[in-house]
Amino acid sequence: MSSPLDAFSYRNGELHIGDLAVSDIAEAAGTPVYVYSADAIRTSYRRLAKAFAPLGARLHYAVKASSNLHILRLLHGLGAGMDVVSGGELERAWLAGVPMSEIVFAGVGKSRAEQRAALDGRFSPLKEAAESCGGHGIEGRGPVGLFNVESSSELEVLAEVATELGVTARACIRVNPDVDARTHEYTTTGKEENKFGVAVPEIPSLFDTYRDSASVRLVGLHMHIGSPVREIEPYESAVRVLLGLIDRLEAAGHPIEVLDLGGGWPVCYTDDDSPDIESYAAALIPLLESRVGTGLRIVIEPGRSILANSGVLLTRVQHVKQGRFKRFVVCDAGIHTLIRPALYKAFHFIWPVRVDAAHIPPIAAERLDLPDLYPSDVVGPICETGDFLARNRNLPAVTRDDLMAVFSAGAYGMSMSLNYNDHPRSAEVMVDSGKAILINRRQDQATLLRTELSPREL
Ligand code: LLP
Repeated sequence: MSSPLDAFSYRNGELHIGDLAVSDIAEAAGTPVYVYSADAIRTSYRRLAKAFAPLGARLHYAVKASSNLHILRLLHGLGAGMDVVSGGELERAWLAGVPMSEIVFAGVGKSRAEQRAALDGRFSPLKEAAESCGGHGIEGRGPVGLFNVESSSELEVLAEVATELGVTARACIRVNPDVDARTHEYTTTGKEENKFGVAVPEIPSLFDTYRDSASVRLVGLHMHIGSPVREIEPYESAVRVLLGLIDRLEAAGHPIEVLDLGGGWPVCYTDDDSPDIESYAAALIPLLESRVGTGLRIVIEPGRSILANSGVLLTRVQHVKQGRFKRFVVCDAGIHTLIRPALYKAFHFIWPVRVDAAHIPPIAAERLDLPDLYPSDVVGPICETGDFLARNRNLPAVTRDDLMAVFSAGAYGMSMSLNYNDHPRSAEVMVDSGKAILINRRQDQATLLRTELSPREL
């Protein structure tokens, strides 16, 4: 499993990506800033692809993990299709140059407008702007390769919209296998009480209803049980449920072409001993290989496992306050920049960018056995006590204007960032071939205000 520190190194006490000192990047781009390593993205993509190669699995990158156009382009260049969950993500994938046939469209609440744009480019919200956004033209844009449908209601609307447009939508039904992925309750998605997917007993009748439909062709099943899933067993249980269902459907005369296993593949936020991606693949291959031999196509939708450890968030210390029990290291990044610690009590390894020789971190861990560490909360500027990046961490002494690195921030960092307290969203930088490229400028205050400047009567 890749470590949070793999893509980075401390040289002469200074954090580097390849040969570049991250402090130079922060100086040039300002802070907070997300910095991604293109090489790390390539390495983790290839590792995942190799692990699932015996199943011939098609990788559709989960755009929600990190949706910058340049990241999508990089991944598409490596062979990835895209998994999108909104009209906005769909347009990003399209602008990044991904053909519609290589996009799967999931999501529990697709609107009619989103379905239309996914079926016919004339309904793209970027119809006018596509060229100026650097994308290819909208004319002739066909339907997405696959819809992952979450309810009978969604299927009804999809059939209506496809009929209106005179096209056929290819779709999988997302199955709710009622399997506990044993991850945070907010990111557990495969249990009966979760809003996602269709319960197993309801699925055969959906396939019967749409058997001869000209507007919707049901071609397979989809699952996504949670994120991150730190154990292999829930995948095995869920896959068994779906294979049982495939047998029933095929016996009833519904050939199943596609099995989409979703995302949730693991990542290390510390140097722990969670099973690695190869072990997940090795456990699933025996369950699936004979089906693949008879024509079943496997899809996976990884996001975090490719991006998390390929990115770091750099934040500058604004103030240090010594409280009675601990220090507060007040940074310019907070929950508006990286919400995961507050929302899921998620752990991100955080360490100063410049340290003396005694403080070079040997591994990424909650507790490091190093001298002169001080109990610290790393907090942001937001007016909420819940605004923290780390609590009760033992950290080296830091002072005003020092830079801190928040590791494993490449997935669900920038993509979940907010404008709360009217902070602009961060800049993003990609390091590739020894160069740092600004791939997203910091939002400016005027952009935040623009949509409010001309009120009009409705
Ligand atoms: N496919 C579907 C249908 C999904 O809902 C997701 C993630 C993925 C694929 C990608 O999962 P991944 O491989 O990235 O684990 N904000 C949370 C994670 C939410 C994941 C939502 N769905 C976090 O920061 O941990």
